[in-house]
Amino acid sequence: MKNLAVLTSGGDSPGMNACIRAIVRSANHKNINTFGIQYGYNGLIKNNIKILLPEEVSNTIHIGGTILKSARSEEFFSKKGRKKAYQNLKMNNIDGMIVLGGDGSLTGAKIFGDEFKFNIIGIPCTIDNDVYGTDYSIGFATARETIVNSIDKIRDTAASHERIFIVEVMGRESGYLALESGVASGAELILIPENKNSMTDVINKLKKINNKKKSVIIVYAEGCKFGSLNEFSQKIKDSISNSNVRFSILGHIQRGGIPSPSDRILASILGYESINQIIKGKTNKMIGIKNQKPILINLDDVISKKKNVDLSLIEISNIISKY
Ligand code: F6P
Repeated sequence: MKNLAVLTSGGDSPGMNACIRAIVRSANHKNINTFGIQYGYNGLIKNNIKILLPEEVSNTIHIGGTILKSARSEEFFSKKGRKKAYQNLKMNNIDGMIVLGGDGSLTGAKIFGDEFKFNIIGIPCTIDNDVYGTDYSIGFATARETIVNSIDKIRDTAASHERIFIVEVMGRESGYLALESGVASGAELILIPENKNSMTDVINKLKKINNKKKSVIIVYAEGCKFGSLNEFSQKIKDSISNSNVRFSILGHIQRGGIPSPSDRILASILGYESINQIIKGKTNKMIGIKNQKPILINLDDVISKKKNVDLSLIEISNIISKY
């Protein structure tokens, strides 16, 4: 292998730059050139490809987002778009590609790898931590920390005004990020889509908590289906007399920022390992981390299987967040 490409796709996640750095430097160590593709698959289709020199990734390990830019590409879903992408890789004499992204981006990688028999390795990067086959995705630890720091601040107001605060956390259909952030912030109630609760269950639980404690933090995963947060808080107000309810949507603040040391380390290990594996001829695989060791998983499994959350954490949280 002489020339390799790297792209970041889908939602950016803190640690992507640390991973790009590891890829470029590890490839250079093996005398392989790395090409950076800008704007994810869209850039690949538009031939937005240029060499990334080892010195160009200096001073990027601590920067959030992605220096390669990212996008969610509609065009790559079409065969025509993927063909164009393949032609551009061939035109640039690129014989392998490393894709950094979440579920959707890895699905694109798998389809492309199969279609053109192209050497492809995926690296899980998403704050949602919902990628099957890896304990952690790059960006999750930082987002979790950002959320916990934010909830710590909200708790000051919740406690001072004796309010019920609903804090909406990202994660798409997955409650992983909400669950761990909720436990770490001592939330009185954690609502995630994987744990089916009816509105009546929620109100009953809340009444019990509120009988003893007036300030309550509810961590609410964005994938929950209780209507809009306006409607949800109104239902709480209507059911609990004298309740003082507010909600806060943390939004994209969760996705940006300086990557935590653990995300930088994970990104460095996975980036380094992706080079080792691609030069061994491994393809259509994802490099993940299991029990602190890098592992290879078939992209087939990654995209067809669902990562489960550990529901026992909800039980633990329910017991230790009340008295
Ligand atoms: O997948 C990462 C994520 O931040 C999800 O948690 C969220 O639902 C989504 O992306 C938001 O996407 P966008 O930034 O495109 O609105």
